[in-house]
Amino acid sequence: MNIATNIANLANPEGGWVNPLRDPRDMRLPRVAGPCSLVIFGVTGDLARKKLLPAVYDLYNRGLLPAGFGLIGFGRRPWSNEEFANFVRKCVEERSRTPFSESTWGPLSASIRFVQGEFDDAEAFSRLSDTVSELDRDRGTRGNHAFYMSVPPRAFPLVSKQLAACGLAHSTEGAWRRVIIEKPFGHDLASAQELNRVVSEVFAPESVFRIDHYLGKETVQNLLALRFANTMFEPVWNANYVDHVQITMAEDLGVAGRAGYYDGIGAARDVIQNHLLQLMALTAMEEPVSFSAQDLIAEKTKVLSAVRLPKDLAAHTARGQYAAGWQGSEKVVGYLDEAGIDPKSTTETYAAIRLDVDTRRWAGVPFYLRTGKRLGKRVTEIAVVFKRAPHLPFETTATRELGNNAVVIRVQPDEGVTLRFGAKVPGTAMEVRDVNMDFSYGSSFTEASPEAYERLILDVLLGDPPLFPTTREVELSWEILDPIEEFWATQGQPQPYRSGTWGPAEADEMLNRDGRHWRMP
Ligand code: BG6
Repeated sequence: MNIATNIANLANPEGGWVNPLRDPRDMRLPRVAGPCSLVIFGVTGDLARKKLLPAVYDLYNRGLLPAGFGLIGFGRRPWSNEEFANFVRKCVEERSRTPFSESTWGPLSASIRFVQGEFDDAEAFSRLSDTVSELDRDRGTRGNHAFYMSVPPRAFPLVSKQLAACGLAHSTEGAWRRVIIEKPFGHDLASAQELNRVVSEVFAPESVFRIDHYLGKETVQNLLALRFANTMFEPVWNANYVDHVQITMAEDLGVAGRAGYYDGIGAARDVIQNHLLQLMALTAMEEPVSFSAQDLIAEKTKVLSAVRLPKDLAAHTARGQYAAGWQGSEKVVGYLDEAGIDPKSTTETYAAIRLDVDTRRWAGVPFYLRTGKRLGKRVTEIAVVFKRAPHLPFETTATRELGNNAVVIRVQPDEGVTLRFGAKVPGTAMEVRDVNMDFSYGSSFTEASPEAYERLILDVLLGDPPLFPTTREVELSWEILDPIEEFWATQGQPQPYRSGTWGPAEADEMLNRDGRHWRMP
């Protein structure tokens, strides 16, 4: 047992959670989960293999999971506990962030169980219930269990009902039950409301944790530190100084084996409805009274409620679909030729939209959100672009090359913050050109950033809700996106763009119309 675990178990023997942001003494202590298990449905899927299982190992390796921990996989394969443990080990060896060590793996593997069954098989859920009881008895998980739905939303109702029927869904005296839901949270407002209805029939609102993995990223949380722990950004973070904001999430990968999920969903539903609107809400919100879930969510919700769509959607939105091209030195096919994609598909792989936030702070400041697959490179950033100085006391030639000042939060992959401003070019003449001043996580801190899923799984096990979007936020986000989707549905084929470029010409025209241009990240 390491020191971190001992500290937390002393401070918190029942695994109940005390908000560390409210107690200064706790601020820098590692937060360690109390006795519990994590049950994963859809454990052989992509997400579990690549993210969830490695994250569980990383948490265990960092001493953030308790001795009384259990990991249960539920799936169709006819596996024994040992066979499942071998599968977990393989995923961990391939993908874990922290080095693989036999001394971590030994105790973790002893806590691994597998329950074989289909979602419609009541007996399988009764076996799950027995397994959970066995962990409570033999591993000391004390009746605390989290259920991770890493399954398509159409399976939620059935799995939820089965959990309720076998008595696993409800928290009992001194023990908790929680459910973790992965996006997509519906495909429009109506379906999201239906999904929320189904889930709320079974689980109490405080036990539902909706994952938006962007909120688990270190750099996204750093946005709160940047804005609210410093004095120099907040005074200029408003319509007096900001010209516009660009939020970009670019991927170089194509649809990469996820055709079944992606086709018919598209870039805006996949990414703008959740990740980008959350980034926008954090960028635009007022200072919360505290970082408790309630206060933070109240501020994000206000922003989402204040969003105004452009009147002319044709002029202020853009869609594209990747065509064949080059990704680095690799020749890649177009979206319509990808395996599993309908050759007549009108699904967009690139989406850009302009939104306005109708508050005093942001009046007249557009927020441009864009995302796409098969773009020039993988990069996510939030660029707050400032107005030009009201007066430049130089010859015009001196500032010809000067752009707008900007604060750029580099969410990934090169995590950090860039300040962009003008500086004099060395020499006898006065010439001002843009330069960058960089803060980089890699060179400023020795600690490596945890993966988003490490943070979020730990938060669920701690019952710590600030980083999980609420039903209201999900619904407001669909209210923003639905009219755009309805408009696009009448527009036929999205404009093609060559793989490896920065998206369709339509997107450039959209910004040019406003007298602006996209940043080249
Ligand atoms: C997911 C989307 O939510 O985020 C994917 O469904 C996308 O389409 C992924 O590829 C990107 O995540 P990250 O953390 O690699 O930026």
